[in-house]
Order: sequence, then C-alpha cells, then structure tokens
Amino acid sequence: MQLKLDKPFIGINHLNAHLAANFIDTDLEPPFIALLVSGGHTQIIKVNSYSDMQIIGETIDDAVGEAYDKVARLIGLPYPGGPKLDKLAQEGNPFAFKLPEAKVGEYDFSFSGLKTASLRLVKSFTDKNLPLPLNDICASFQECVSSTLYKKVKHALEQTGFNQVVLAGGVAANSEIRKKIFSLSDLGYKVYAPAMKYCTDNASMVASAAYFFENTFDNIDVEVFSRVK
Ligand SMILES: Nc1ncnc2c1ncn2[C@@H]1O[C@H](COP(=O)(O)OP(=O)(O)O)[C@@H](O)[C@H]1O
Ligand SMILES: [Mg+2]
Repeated sequence: MQLKLDKPFIGINHLNAHLAANFIDTDLEPPFIALLVSGGHTQIIKVNSYSDMQIIGETIDDAVGEAYDKVARLIGLPYPGGPKLDKLAQEGNPFAFKLPEAKVGEYDFSFSGLKTASLRLVKSFTDKNLPLPLNDICASFQECVSSTLYKKVKHALEQTGFNQVVLAGGVAANSEIRKKIFSLSDLGYKVYAPAMKYCTDNASMVASAAYFFENTFDNIDVEVFSRVK
C-alpha cells in the first residue's frame, strides 16, 4: 500500500495517546503515576520512562465512562450521559445517598456493584411514583466514583514514591474527578491533566504519542487491534 503523502507511518496505542495528551504544552516528564479513565478503560499505570510502563491496577468489570453512561441512561439522560450526569451532580448534595465502594485488589476497580446500587436507589423512588432527586443521585454517584479513584491513586503515589500524577482519558473532563486529583497538589504532588479539548479522543494526543512514546516507524499494513492484550 502506498501512503499518499509519502510520510513515515507510526502505529499508535490509543491509551498511550490519552496519556501523551499530558505532554502537550507542559513540562511533564516520566516518572509518574497515571490514572486513565475513559469509556473503555480504567487503569492506574506506573510510567517509569517513555519506553517502560506497567498497568498496576484496572477495572475488573465496567470502565468509569461506561458506568457513567449506564447510570445516566438509567435516569433518562441521552448518550453519552457522562458529561450530563457531571453537570447535574454539580447542583446536588454528594452526601445525600451512601453508595457502595467496591472492595477489590489494591489498585483495582469495580463499578458493577455501584451500578446495581444506583438502580436500586432509582427504583426506590419510581416504585412509589416519587419524583427522582436527580441532582442528589448524580452527586452521590459522582462522589462515590471520584473518591474511589482518589484513594487508589493516592495509595499508588505513596507506595511507589513517585511525586507526579497524570490524569488522562475522556473522563478526565469530569469536574469532581479533576478537583479531587488536583487536590493531591495540597499534599506536595505535581498534578497534570490535559486541557479539556485534549481529554476526549483527538488528533493532537495521537501525534504526541507518536513523538514521545512510539517513535519507531511501522509498516502501513501493521495489524490493528480494538483491545490491546
Ligand atoms: N464530564 C464527564 N464526566 C463523566 N464522564 C465523561 C465526561 N466527559 C466525557 N465523559 C465520558 O468519557 C467517555 C468518552 O471518552 P473517550 O476517551 O473518548 O472514551 P473511549 O476512547 O474509551 O471511547 C464517555 O463514556 C463519556 O461519557
Ligand atoms: Mg479514547
């Protein structure tokens, strides 16, 4: 196959691209802990150098973005419900309802129990024909998710001794997750998150990944995977 512009070709791992969004217009250099939260992934990654990184924790079921979109659908918000749920949450009381945090591995996540608990909470109103306290449900869900993420990332920083943390992926646009992760700077950590326009899938992050992470050229017929094993 001939490339029209006759430019070199580099195959990119989409997740690396989300991480690399943090190199755009910043002084960030490894090592750092990354929290990658998107529609398909929830991972804590130990980035030792540009060429050496390990996934130290991940979700055992739903990704954060997926949980947001599913709970949003449950309360009648159109897809993708994540950003809309975030907006309603900002008007609600985060402590109105206590929702469960999953007990899983040190750095792992599980959001299916939270999804079921949210369903039960919604039903407790609809079964009695009561109006849904939408803002409070959204705020309580958002509090549960963001505090779980915060605790695990803080633990990863403490255990590795790394002093920098990076937020990445489409859900990095979430107001409360950003707020909690940025509050780690009060504890002396350097915190990075992409500008809003670089959070969801975009071309700049792909170029940044090519430059920083994957700067060896590939053949144009390199295989494409929808999930990297
Ligand atoms: N402010 C927000 N709060 C919560 N979720 C959000 C927010 N903005 C975007 N999302 C979620 O981010 C996901 C899309 O991110 P993206 O990185 O494009 O995912 P993927 O590449 O895995 O499909 C969707 O699930 C969407 O609901
Ligand atoms: Mg993406």
